[in-house]
Amino acid sequence: PLKCCINPSILSADFVNLETELARIADADAVHVDVMDNRFVPNLTIGLPVVERMQKVSPVPLDVHLMIADVDLWAPSYADARVDSVTFHVEASDAPIKLARELRARGTKAGMALRPATPVEPYLDMLPELDMLLIMTVEPGFGGQSFLDIVLPKIRRARAAVEGSGVDVAIQVDGGITEETITRAAEAGANVFVAGSAVYGRPSPADAIESLRAKGQL
Ligand code: DX5
Ligand code: ZN
Repeated sequence: PLKCCINPSILSADFVNLETELARIADADAVHVDVMDNRFVPNLTIGLPVVERMQKVSPVPLDVHLMIADVDLWAPSYADARVDSVTFHVEASDAPIKLARELRARGTKAGMALRPATPVEPYLDMLPELDMLLIMTVEPGFGGQSFLDIVLPKIRRARAAVEGSGVDVAIQVDGGITEETITRAAEAGANVFVAGSAVYGRPSPADAIESLRAKGQL
């Protein structure tokens, strides 16, 4: 069976108390850090100085999701912050193969993200360059949106391609993951699950992580 990872999204946490909020998800596999620049998406969150500081105090690895323009320019600096993985949007990159190689060369796992309407087929030859493929299950930009079931066939095709080529690439889903939708995403082939409101929106994030894990592990 695939290893199931639950990565709570810091987007739904209290941005004024990040250190405390990180301690509340110490049982998670990683913390998903949403970086937005109000250009690639119509929302603004945090940038490099805050990510560098989180890296120093977090009890779990950092899974950085860059929703920013000019990502070829900026992503390497996040890798230099020694985070566990850096994921860039293919729609924002002029040279995704070069960028993925640059991230790995700096000692970080390379992730590539696709918006819901971006097809996966043109990028299947790139799988050996990646450690993770992020298939967005909402339009990036905001937490609390509803899971897009129309993305499920793309997850299935990506999983088949990963199995077919024998590469070790995690398939991450992000957006609208709940105790209900996680089962569908897992059955389609996802194994890394980002959850914002379904973890930080609960009285006990630790309990939420545990029940998501029970449903996401097939
Ligand atoms: C959306 C972000 C997500 C967001 C998910 O653009 O990439 O990581 O935090 O939030 P939920 O789980 O509430 O849909
Ligand atoms: Zn995200």
